[in-house]
Amino acid sequence: MGVEIQVEHLTKSFGKQVIWRDVSLTVPAGEICVMLGPSGTGKSVFLKALIGLLKPEEGSIVIEGTDIATCSEKDLYEIRKLFGVLFQDGAMFGSMNLYDNVAFPLREHTRKSESDIRDIVMEKMDLVGLVGAEDKLPGEISGGMRKRAGLARALVLDPEIVLFDEPDSGLDPVRTAFLNQLIVDLNAQIDATFLIVTHDINTARTVPDNIGLLYHKHLAMFGPREMLLSSEEPVVRQFLNAQRVGPIGMSEEKDATELAAEEGQELPPLPPIALQLEPSNGIPRRSQREPGEWCRQNGITPPPGSFRPEAAVLSG
Ligand SMILES: Nc1ncnc2c1ncn2[C@@H]1O[C@H](COP(=O)(O)OP(=O)(O)O)[C@@H](O)[C@H]1O
Ligand SMILES: [Mg+2]
Repeated sequence: MGVEIQVEHLTKSFGKQVIWRDVSLTVPAGEICVMLGPSGTGKSVFLKALIGLLKPEEGSIVIEGTDIATCSEKDLYEIRKLFGVLFQDGAMFGSMNLYDNVAFPLREHTRKSESDIRDIVMEKMDLVGLVGAEDKLPGEISGGMRKRAGLARALVLDPEIVLFDEPDSGLDPVRTAFLNQLIVDLNAQIDATFLIVTHDINTARTVPDNIGLLYHKHLAMFGPREMLLSSEEPVVRQFLNAQRVGPIGMSEEKDATELAAEEGQELPPLPPIALQLEPSNGIPRRSQREPGEWCRQNGITPPPGSFRPEAAVLSG
């Protein structure tokens, strides 16, 4: 069914280095959220905090009434069963074929018979379009196939929440487009809560129901896709439109001199908001909304040309 994740006033540091502070957001049950942010802003750290691999110093992460930030190891063990995680590189065991990689969590965490395991593994391989590749080793297949195999493994315990750490890293634009469609289809089919960390602007603009942006040690904004895509807030606008003009600099925040040099520089208009990617399997998504609904309800005029089938998707 998918469950909600409620994050409140979360702060994470390593020693004296604050990664982010006072992060509050609710990942709604069954919806797709994308978390964006420049490299090194703590997106992976955020995912690890959600599954209890890293302890935040302050704040709470409540899932089904349990606070991950403070609960016992025993409760954490139970809560973790709700999660499926697709790590950045697929995190496959190189010496095991895809079948054994996908079967691994079932053999580790359940007492299912090998014949039940076979049914589940084949079902998940089918979901991600990998039937026939069971005997391949991770090193023998393309990056796109490895991601899909990692996804099959993330789904094998029927998670309520699926976390994706840069599923599109290292993939070409066409493979990314296929993977994005697969993610949207899977969300409709298994009805779990999806949280995707990425810095792919196309993915962020077309896949999720909600977008968050981590920047400069805090959550700059979090909300419905249309809210961020129509936002004039400088950091959000710069990042979601992949522009140089704005507060984000080459390696960190721009300083006062750099910003002064940009004074008066004309910003390009906001591009049209593309339609959200729809499931290709005919299954409606639980969180499906009318295009433009958020803008209408909030009295925001979307950029011209928005929500037309041909509305351009940013090409980067
Ligand atoms: N286990 C750790 N111990 C100390 N520092 C860490 C640890 N994990 C991550 N960091 C630091 O936290 C910061 C954010 O890392 P990360 O979450 O990987 O960024 P992102 O995924 O956004 O690129 C980096 O400066 C990184 O060095
Ligand atoms: Mg990362």
